[in-house]
Amino acid sequence: MDEELLNACVAWTEERFAPESETHRWIRAEMEARGLPMIQVSPLEGRILAFLAAAVGATRLLEVGTLGGYSALWLVSLLDPEARLTTLEREPEHARLAREAARRAGEEERIRVRTGDARAILAELAAAGDREPLDLVFIDADKRSYPDYLEWATFLLRPGGLVLGDNAYWDGRVLEGSPAEDADEDVRGIREFNRRLAEDPRFQAVIVPVRDGLAVARFVG
Ligand code: SAH
Ligand code: DHB
Ligand code: MG
Repeated sequence: MDEELLNACVAWTEERFAPESETHRWIRAEMEARGLPMIQVSPLEGRILAFLAAAVGATRLLEVGTLGGYSALWLVSLLDPEARLTTLEREPEHARLAREAARRAGEEERIRVRTGDARAILAELAAAGDREPLDLVFIDADKRSYPDYLEWATFLLRPGGLVLGDNAYWDGRVLEGSPAEDADEDVRGIREFNRRLAEDPRFQAVIVPVRDGLAVARFVG
């Protein structure tokens, strides 16, 4: 299928299977108005996140990298009312918008936004030994830290839980590149993340070629 036709099929799929809620549209408009980077997941990718979360019966979820709460809203969209998503965001301005969005969507119970550096919060979560294990971790923050986030995920997930990672293709820079690319910390982070998912026997993984690549891995335990 040529690229144009494939794009038309993606648009068709989004129309029929991935309609945005009013709050999804509101978040995009606010992100644009507030000059925030428009780097949220696509509706198709959001719907895949929602589907995977529902498919594993997720009730405890963690997102690393909130931005305006767009992907968070997709993640909980097919879950039971008891489900709880904690999402981590370093930028107070982003976290503020995400909280506002959750309130507008009537999702303040299910979506909790924590402001701070994800590394520090993850260390804290992993150290608290009395928590229930997670069903799903979605990684979408700074790319150089993906290998560390994956490591934290193995401490936090239940066997059979999912690790999802956005930007697994990193604009094609995962492929062999120039010496400058090879030295880039973000490129290295994404490459190492993908390598571990492909090679570590604790994961069963694949990359779904949606948007910039969505890594999908089952944590075997
Ligand atoms: N998941 C969002 C997009 C996230 S963009 C969506 O699809 O709607 C990445 C976000 O991660 C940005 O808001 C950025 O501020 C945040 N971020 C980057 N590094 C971080 C860190 N170390 N800790 C917490 N948040 C971080
Ligand atoms: C960027 C980050 C993302 O998470 C994304 O999905 C797209 C782009 C970026 O930092 O450029
Ligand atoms: Mg992303």
